[in-house]
Amino acid sequence: MEAKPITLLAIESSCDDTSAALIKDGKVLANIIASQKIHSEWGGVVPELASRAHQQNIVPVVDMALKKAAVKKSELDAIAYTGGPGLMGSLMVGSSFAKAMAQALNIPSIAVHHMKAHVLAHFIDDPKPKFPFLCLTVSGGHTQIVLVKDYLEMKIIGSTIDDAAGEAFDKCAKIFGLDYPGGPMIDKLAKNGNPNAFKFTKPRVGEFDFSFSGLKTAVLYFVQKQSLENQNFVAENLEDLCASLQKTIVEILIAKLEHAAESLNIKEIAIAGGVSANSLLRSELQALERKGYTSYIPEFQYCLDNAGMIAITAHFQYQKALFSDLSFEPRARWSIEEN
Ligand code: KG4
Ligand code: ZN
Repeated sequence: MEAKPITLLAIESSCDDTSAALIKDGKVLANIIASQKIHSEWGGVVPELASRAHQQNIVPVVDMALKKAAVKKSELDAIAYTGGPGLMGSLMVGSSFAKAMAQALNIPSIAVHHMKAHVLAHFIDDPKPKFPFLCLTVSGGHTQIVLVKDYLEMKIIGSTIDDAAGEAFDKCAKIFGLDYPGGPMIDKLAKNGNPNAFKFTKPRVGEFDFSFSGLKTAVLYFVQKQSLENQNFVAENLEDLCASLQKTIVEILIAKLEHAAESLNIKEIAIAGGVSANSLLRSELQALERKGYTSYIPEFQYCLDNAGMIAITAHFQYQKALFSDLSFEPRARWSIEEN
């Protein structure tokens, strides 16, 4: 695809991170992320608080991105924003801001699919995957194996039937008494733990599908039972618990991805989404290279929610003149297979 030289501003506000990015000719010049700390006090994302924090953060975050990229508003060709899926109140803040700014500057706006953007984060830097490739997209709300046929053409091969992988990390972290989001903390604590200390049974679900709610319940019952015998069980075994849980989740994810890749005879495999920041998942994906696969992992800043990934997706949409009407309503639910 021959790229037109274009400059875009992109805004991400689907959950609890307010982010703005500038992209010029497909190169990300700035990717500013303001993470909302307030939710850790509540043990999860509080939608009302999230949209209020987006309202407070959006102007300074956009200003910082423009300044860092040394781009003037008058140089912008379009403004992109996350159109969904996500929390409605959070999506409304980013989309209203982007549409109003686009209208004021008399340029088009582009609604971007958040999960497509996680996948396309792989096209921000080199090396870039070759089509078709398989992407395991793992975040707080989604767990999907996506067949990526082209930049904007994706098909879901398998997905979770209940909780997402990130949710499993976060809910188990809560059982261990850790703050939200627990995924990064489990990753950190697991480094000093024994991954074989405890065994948790893996779910049996459809070929390429996932299920994590049974694992969460198994962990809860196990911890409750052990705590009856020893009140300090969690505190005394925290690192081992984290390492064992992380190993179980990562083994489930990698086994399904490998099975899908084998079945579809695809050698290019990737991970994306917040959980792709997990150090064990990253090393286990890389380990599949020994079996003849080529693996791709986005740079850390593009794994968690960020506007850089929205910007690169908008860049490809711009090439195809896939603009959005000002009447576009954010979608809390939106399939990756739809345009
Ligand atoms: O993509 P993301 O930033 O937001 C959503 O779109 O959901 O993903 C957030 C999820 C959270 O569940 C968080 O605990 C998890 O990603 N996560 C991790 C790690 N870093 C973030 N899970 C395991 N290990 C990590 N290092
Ligand atoms: Zn996300």
